[in-house]
Amino acid sequence: NGKSTAVTRDYGKRTAIVTGSARGIGKAIAIRLAEDGFDVCINDIAANKAGIEEVVKEIEALGRSAYGHVADVSIRSEVEALIEASVQNLGNLDVMVANAGIAQVKALLDLSDEDVRRMFDVNVLGVFNCYSAAAKQMIKQGGGGKIIGAASIVAFKPFALLSHYSASKFAVRGFTQAFAMELAEHKITVNGYAPGIVGTAMWDLIDEELGKKNGSNKGETIKKYSDDLIALGRTSVPEDVAKCVSYLASPDSDYMTGQTLVIDGGIVF
Ligand code: NAI
Repeated sequence: NGKSTAVTRDYGKRTAIVTGSARGIGKAIAIRLAEDGFDVCINDIAANKAGIEEVVKEIEALGRSAYGHVADVSIRSEVEALIEASVQNLGNLDVMVANAGIAQVKALLDLSDEDVRRMFDVNVLGVFNCYSAAAKQMIKQGGGGKIIGAASIVAFKPFALLSHYSASKFAVRGFTQAFAMELAEHKITVNGYAPGIVGTAMWDLIDEELGKKNGSNKGETIKKYSDDLIALGRTSVPEDVAKCVSYLASPDSDYMTGQTLVIDGGIVF
């Protein structure tokens, strides 16, 4: 009869925690999830407390609830306290995004034990702590939920001078697959996202350090990468990644688990 019927999707009240969300990709994910209808718990380390508060305000301005909590993801008890406080303030946990991570540019043969240990403490143990504590909370709630973690394209092909960072992201992919296997019986899905080159404080540091090693100026490494490496011919912004994480957090990805979604403009296939 020519009349159109509006289709809407209302998923009801949902809550997400995003670690490392005072800035960069984590912040973009937190804001995108708030736009999607989530109440969001913002987490970062104490040094970024001001950033946490800013993101909380931005989310409240969108009409959603937000709660900020300082915790170091590499410390299990702090992650457990983060989840407990989030549940108390915002309600049951539906989505955990283990986004926090660090990077370091250094030649493989110059790496100290301490360099490697620190990288794995934050990027691997940190993700493990978040996956595991979130899973326990979700099981306590009766099962169901989505766990999502930050890998990188270097989890598919390492970049030179980012070797321990690359190895840590391979481990994130490994845990993503392993948790997917063991949590399926609780109807919890576990997926990762693998950004390519995203304009954030982290990439600024990588660009500067790689530049020092190969004698180029700030911005030149990133320009060379976008010209030579990226099929779409541009590096990305945090929102490019946040859109894809929005999909991983939505029921549209319910039949997907154990995957790491590459969002890189066409670098690795
Ligand atoms: P960023 O450095 O701008 O932001 C990361 C945030 O995590 C910071 O606010 C930092 O304080 C926080 N953080 C660090 N250690 C923490 C800890 N122990 N506990 C809690 N929070 C902690 O980095 P960016 O670029 O936003 O990266 C986010 C994630 O995406 C990271 O896991 C990173 O490895 C990954 N990634 C980034 C890419 C890029 O090109 N920027 C490419 C591929 C992956």
